[in-house]
Amino acid sequence: MAQIITEVSRTFNEFLLLPNRTRTDCSAATVDLRTPLARHIAGEESAIELQSPFTSAIMQAVGTPDLAIALARDGGLSFLHHNQPIADQAAAVRKVKNFKAGFVTSDTNVRPDDSLSVLVDVMRHTGHSTAAVTHDGTATGRLLGLVTSRDFHPQRHDLDGPVSGRMTAIADLAHAGPDITLSEANARLWDERLDCLPVLDAEGHLQHLVFRSDYADNKRFPNQLVDAAKRLRVGAGINTHDYQERVPALLEAGVDALCLDSSDGYSDWQAQALSWVKKHYPEVPVGGGNVVDGEAFTFLAEAGADFVKIGVGGGSICITRDQKGIGRGQASAVLDVAAARDAFRERTGEYVPICSDGGLVHDYHVALALAMGADFVMMGRYFARFDQAAGAKLPTRDGFVKEYWGEGSNRARNWQRYGQGGQGLVFEEGVDGYVPYAGDLSEGLALTVAKLRTAMVSCGSTTLAEFRSTARLTLVSDQSFQESHANVTLRDTPVTVS
Ligand code: IMP
Repeated sequence: MAQIITEVSRTFNEFLLLPNRTRTDCSAATVDLRTPLARHIAGEESAIELQSPFTSAIMQAVGTPDLAIALARDGGLSFLHHNQPIADQAAAVRKVKNFKAGFVTSDTNVRPDDSLSVLVDVMRHTGHSTAAVTHDGTATGRLLGLVTSRDFHPQRHDLDGPVSGRMTAIADLAHAGPDITLSEANARLWDERLDCLPVLDAEGHLQHLVFRSDYADNKRFPNQLVDAAKRLRVGAGINTHDYQERVPALLEAGVDALCLDSSDGYSDWQAQALSWVKKHYPEVPVGGGNVVDGEAFTFLAEAGADFVKIGVGGGSICITRDQKGIGRGQASAVLDVAAARDAFRERTGEYVPICSDGGLVHDYHVALALAMGADFVMMGRYFARFDQAAGAKLPTRDGFVKEYWGEGSNRARNWQRYGQGGQGLVFEEGVDGYVPYAGDLSEGLALTVAKLRTAMVSCGSTTLAEFRSTARLTLVSDQSFQESHANVTLRDTPVTVS
């Protein structure tokens, strides 16, 4: 006979945190958001510690190399999606691993015999005012000179004339070799009063440009998530179908962590894939999921998962519960899995981190998920709103939106994630829609992090481990939920007078 779980399936909106005593040494500045990514001996450090407990969803609409770079610079980790050919996913990993803060790949490039009017068009298109003049007009061609918007004026110079007539030729240009470090490059920018320093390989081909204007920008990211060689870290999603080919290619590209991505991770397929990865590549962390209860967590932890992702049916684009009647309120799922994670640690001495994935609607839901036991969170809708996400930015009557579509939608058709039988989707488990545009990732995430830090301070915690072990949560009634919101007539948003 079917078993009925008596506990009601609850979600984050049904809970609030009670403030704990805040001691004088507990402030937003002293809060430490580091958290383990991978399985480790309890009491020791994980091989990879996130600097900040945020990861981005394994989704076409979210994961781009640009987003992975931006998130790692802020201390979090992206998992690049696997709903693309293996070579493309590996190339995306490589792009993140090759990123060197402050070393920019030139995007404004011309040939010496291009006319100044071509140069004007290229500059208008990229919005940049410094162009590299290379023998073939590419970002990695042999560098022949630099030309900036200060070198010509459309009214004074013949726009049909060649770029070579106005550029500063390489012979008169300060430049550097491939081994220069960022601090050496910055020193030369200041000492030699340069605006831009080209970095060339031994054959004189352009590798990067270092700009004076980026110097302050680099100082903005003190918590970057980097590997031993100081390269940004990046993760990748994998599936239970082609992992034997995909994993070696991703590792070859330099990936730091893997995550099996499935709408239902409580399966023998997933256990087999986990043990294959652990057998062949024991050093790379590989996560499993998604699950919603302790039994499934323990199954994946015993199969070798280095972390386990929680969440079925709660995602903002998800219609799995409507379609199949499968899932569980995200708060109940996190609480249940956190209890199993702690029991597993007691039994084995190993700590297997857990991730709350999807359904985080308000910033404060992040604090609730972490207080309920999650080691880190994964978000799709949240990151899809930013410039760096994959979806197109579109104007509407009420402002800009970004496209956001589920992996189980007809647009993504990620059949590897949804076991519906065969190589295709029989029915949709996700929708295709829009989310409000939210600008730059770093600025948006800074706000969310500020709210998390102050919530932790109210709860008297300076670390996430302390936060989850001392948090006191209360259920809210419908009436007290109403009380949570502003209860006055709001003034109109002030209009800016230009
Ligand atoms: P969100 O942060 O609420 O937007 O949820 C994102 C999460 O939803 C992802 O990390 C996936 O676990 C899950 N997801 C992604 N695409 C789909 C879909 O099409 N249907 C159901 N769940 C999805």
